[in-house]
Amino acid sequence: MSLDLPQGGAPKISFQNVTRRFGDDQNAFIALDRLNLDIADGEFVTVVGPSGCGKSTAMNIAAGLMTASEGQVLVDGRPVSGPSPERGVIFQQYALFPWLTVRQNVEFGLRIKRISAAERRRIADHFIDLVGLKDFADALPKTLSGGMKQRCAIARAYAVNPIILLMDEPFGALDALTRVQMQDQLLDTWSRERRTVIFITHDVDEAVYLANRVIVMAARPGRLHKIIPVDLPYPRTEEIRLSPAFAEIRNQVWHAVYHQNPQINQNSR
Ligand SMILES: Nc1ncnc2c1ncn2[C@@H]1O[C@H](COP(=O)(O)OP(=O)(O)OP(=O)(O)O)[C@@H](O)[C@H]1O
Ligand SMILES: [Mg+2]
Repeated sequence: MSLDLPQGGAPKISFQNVTRRFGDDQNAFIALDRLNLDIADGEFVTVVGPSGCGKSTAMNIAAGLMTASEGQVLVDGRPVSGPSPERGVIFQQYALFPWLTVRQNVEFGLRIKRISAAERRRIADHFIDLVGLKDFADALPKTLSGGMKQRCAIARAYAVNPIILLMDEPFGALDALTRVQMQDQLLDTWSRERRTVIFITHDVDEAVYLANRVIVMAARPGRLHKIIPVDLPYPRTEEIRLSPAFAEIRNQVWHAVYHQNPQINQNSR
């Protein structure tokens, strides 16, 4: 199951026959079965599918945090062999350093890259501003709400200038209103900075609202099930969210996720 790139040209990220097994050979459990997927430079793809279908496994392999049993992930044609600052990772529960302020947290990756203090400050402030935390740059994480902490985590991931953002249910723990605001903020940032984004979510509306394409996966074994293009213009607005065209695509995604296999779906979140 491979696919053509929407715009043609060399893919930014290429999953090539990526398989991941857990356990010993005889009782090996296939968490991900021969995933083939090309993602274009600057593309925003979202990934949905029942719990346990290998979404996080695929992302962890792309992040270089887990190895594939077979196959490989290429970034700009080069195999991923470990974590890299060019790939920023944001998880659902992102741990900020509690003893560092928002600005110090955002500067952390830049410190590791040995960027000068003045330049660190300039870059950190740019991204703190971008995520709307300007007034909280000197605050400690414990004084921030969940959404603000997550925006700080996003600023931190952006600050090291990753060419790719890997986001695993980053807004899962947020209330509905904050979540919608975070989606708009992320799209706003994406349209300005134009990174390539892979974004896992359980929320079908969120998947459609954000994406150029929605990747639907299936479980047992975890695999690519369907790719649904989202032919809606950016910037995405409330009007688009409430449009019949949006509802049509959401229904397609919903159907692809929840009518794969009734037994599995009963157990999924
Ligand atoms: N370290 C591990 N050891 C053994 N099995 C694992 C390990 N990591 C993941 N798995 C199994 O691989 C399968 C895929 O897991 P993964 O976390 O990728 O699913 P997911 O699609 O992200 O699910 P969710 O939506 O619940 O986050 C699951 O059945 C899981 O139990
Ligand atoms: Mg997961």
